[in-house]
This record gives sequence, structure tokens and C-alpha cells, in this order.
Amino acid sequence: EAGIFTYDPGFMSTASCHSAITYIDGEQGTLLYRGYPIEQLATKASFLEVAYLLLNGELPNEPELVSFEKLITRHTMLNENLKNFLDGFHYDAHPMAILIGVVGSLSAFYHDSLSVNDARHREISAHRLIAKLPTIAAAAFKHNVGEPIMYPRNDLRYCANFLHMMFATPCEDYKPTLIAEKAMNLLFILHADHEQNASTSTVRLAGSSGANPFACIAAGIASLWGPAHGGANEAVLDMLHEIGDVKNVQYFMEKAKDKDDPFRLMGFGHRVYKNYDPRAKIIREVCHQVLEELADTNNPLFELAMKLEEIALSDDYFVERKLYPNVDFYSGIIYQALGIPRNMFTVMFAVARTVGWVSHWLEMMSDPNNRIGRPRQIYHGPTQRDYLPISKR
Ligand code: SDX
Repeated sequence: EAGIFTYDPGFMSTASCHSAITYIDGEQGTLLYRGYPIEQLATKASFLEVAYLLLNGELPNEPELVSFEKLITRHTMLNENLKNFLDGFHYDAHPMAILIGVVGSLSAFYHDSLSVNDARHREISAHRLIAKLPTIAAAAFKHNVGEPIMYPRNDLRYCANFLHMMFATPCEDYKPTLIAEKAMNLLFILHADHEQNASTSTVRLAGSSGANPFACIAAGIASLWGPAHGGANEAVLDMLHEIGDVKNVQYFMEKAKDKDDPFRLMGFGHRVYKNYDPRAKIIREVCHQVLEELADTNNPLFELAMKLEEIALSDDYFVERKLYPNVDFYSGIIYQALGIPRNMFTVMFAVARTVGWVSHWLEMMSDPNNRIGRPRQIYHGPTQRDYLPISKR
């Protein structure tokens, strides 16, 4: 009914929800944020411009963007008590575990003062989450490396501020290079939203019960952590290190095809895209630029990744199943070149995807017909039977 896209009624009857935020055509390899092609946004927009678009449905004009940037910047600081919470984690706690805990704990700081039934309160929660995720993410990294948390700075743009909080110390400042800030901006845009993926569906299902948004986003972060989903970018680097050398690629390709072997080629395949993931095409270009600028171009990992891609794209098993490289295949290599450690890759994904999660949460909560989600099941357990006393079992 949307005019541009006609829906197959059969599809709509099985669709989990209606949404006007992101459109994907897996066969065509199309990805639109509020109607704008990802290829245009990725190269022309800033991440906060895209965040405004996903939240509000339209690209901001100049005054709207300036005011939105100021609003987000003003909420990047964390409540000082959260530092004590952070200190409670073991030094080597996985940053995703810290992110789930700290984001969930924001419920304790803001839940009582914000009502999910008030549109203005919902907007304030969304802005707070977008603003604070980078600060919490950087704080998790600092906790891991035993350095003091760096406070956000109001004179830096969103991506530069994040990189500054990650790599500056009280003893030495850090000024992100333009290529690093540009690569961060692009990666955040590409990961900002992706329709009803597992973590976004988790946020919507949690939110449908009226739970507070901070707890819902913590649930989304938990779902994203899985290696079949957002955890894949970290798993790609683990896989490349495990393969180690181009001469071992064929052996691992055979393992990936063996149904009895749990090994899967991380960074390949997608439930929806049966064509090249449009984000992977964009990211591949940036990967080259970042490596040329920031790392040696004969980075053994990148060379191995390129060889793996070349072999997989010509292998019958992968071609028949349309298993192309997805967004996670290259993002880890770029993060590594930016000096971001492997256990922070999925955290980066979560920072970006928070914009999509809160956009879907706002869309659902503003729908007057919104009802609690209740997925159905196909039961194949025992038919009804009577209790037996233990002496007769
Ligand atoms: C993300 O949903 C989203 O939009 C997710 C995401 C987002 O932005 O939110 O795009 C981000 O999560 C991308 C995916 C990242 N995950 C990985 O890279 C992990 C590796 N990929 C696989 O686990 C898998 O491809 C999935 C989980 C991504 C998709 O799984 P499906 O839907 O079960 O795959 P499929 O039905 O298309 O599989 C078809 C066949 C199966 O074999 P057969 O039963 O037909 O013999 O292909 C096989 C699968 O076993 N297969 C693979 C494979 N992926 C699928 N075989 C080897 N290696 C792989 N990576």
C-alpha cells in the first residue's frame, strides 16, 4: 500500500510488524533508511544526520541538525555513581558484558523520572541512550586496559569524541585523524539499522510489554552479542587468526561445508540478502583506504580476507547458497586498523545500532494499536498424560 512498494499479502500475514524505518530487498541487495539509499547516506551524511533521519523520518535542515547535535552532546556525560558500578567488574570482563550491565543500570538512574507513556519522555530516553552509549563503550575499554575513564568533550563531533574517549589519557591527548573519523562515521551509518534483525526484534518484543527503554536496549545488546549476529565481526578476526595462512583456506572451506562440523565461515551469508550485502560493497572500499592510510597495505589479515572472499565467491557450495560476504566480514579489519581491540568490535556495532533500536522502539510505542508481542509456537511435545507416583516411574 506504500505506493512505491507493493507487498505480497502472504508476506504481510507472516510479517512480525509494520515499520516505516528501513526497507531491505534481499534479492536486489537494496537497503533504504527512510527511503534514502544506504550508498548515498554512507558517503554524504554524518552519523548524527542519519540518526536524526531514522528517529524523525526526514533529513534535518541546518538549524535542526545543529540543535540535535547540541542536544546529543549535552547528554554524553555519565552519572558519577556509574563509575563505581563500572569498577565492580573484573578487569578482564568482556566489554559487551559491561555494556549490558551499565546500560541496563541506566534504568535505575532515569526510570522513575521517565514514563514510557509520555511521548516527550520517550524522546528524552532515546536521546540519552544515543548520547551515552559511546561514553559507556569507551569506559568499558578503559576498564579493560586499566586506564582512567576519559570524559566526553563538547568541542568534538560524535565520532571524534568517541575516538578521543577511547585513546586519549590524562597524560597524553589524542587527536583522531580525519580518515579514522571518516571511517568511524561510515561504519556507524552502515550499522545504524537493519529492519527486523534479531536484536531489533528483541528490543521491540521487550518494549511491547511496557518495559523501560534502558532495559530494552540492554536486551538488544545481549542479542547482538551472539556470533551469528553482531558478534560475527569479532568472530571473523578470530577465524582469520585461526586460518593463519592462505594455504589453509581450502581446509577451512571444507570444514564450513561439513554439516557435522559446527564451523561456519564467519562474515559470510545472510538470512535476507541473497545478493551481495550493499554495506559490504561500501565497506570493502573503505577497508582499502584505511589500510593504505593507517596500516601497511600488505596487512596479512587483509590479504587473507581477500583470498578467502575470492575462493568463497567461486566455490559452488557458496555460490549455490548465495553466501556472500556480509557487513561483518570487513568491519573487524577496519576496526583493527583503527587500533580498536577485537573484544570491542561488537561494542562498536551496538553503539551504532542503538540509533536503530531506539527508532524502532519509538515507532512501536507511538502506535496506539501497539499490543504486547506474543510469538506462537508449533507444539510437538507429548500428548496429555497423568502423573505417576515415583514408585511407579
Ligand atoms: C548480521 O538480520 C540481520 O539483518 C543481521 C545483520 C544486521 O545488520 O543486523 O545484517 C548483521 O548479523 C550479519 C550476519 C553475521 N553473521 C555471520 O557472518 C555468521 C556466519 N553466517 C551464518 O551463521 C549464517 O549465514 C547466518 C546466521 C548469517 C544466516 O543463517 P541462515 O539464515 O540459517 O542461513 P541460510 O538459511 O541462508 O543457510 C543456507 C545454507 C545452509 O546450508 P544448507 O542447509 O542449505 O545445506 O547455507 C549454509 C547453511 O548451513 N550457510 C553457511 C554459512 N551461512 C549459511 N555455511 C557455511 N558458512 C556460512 N557462513
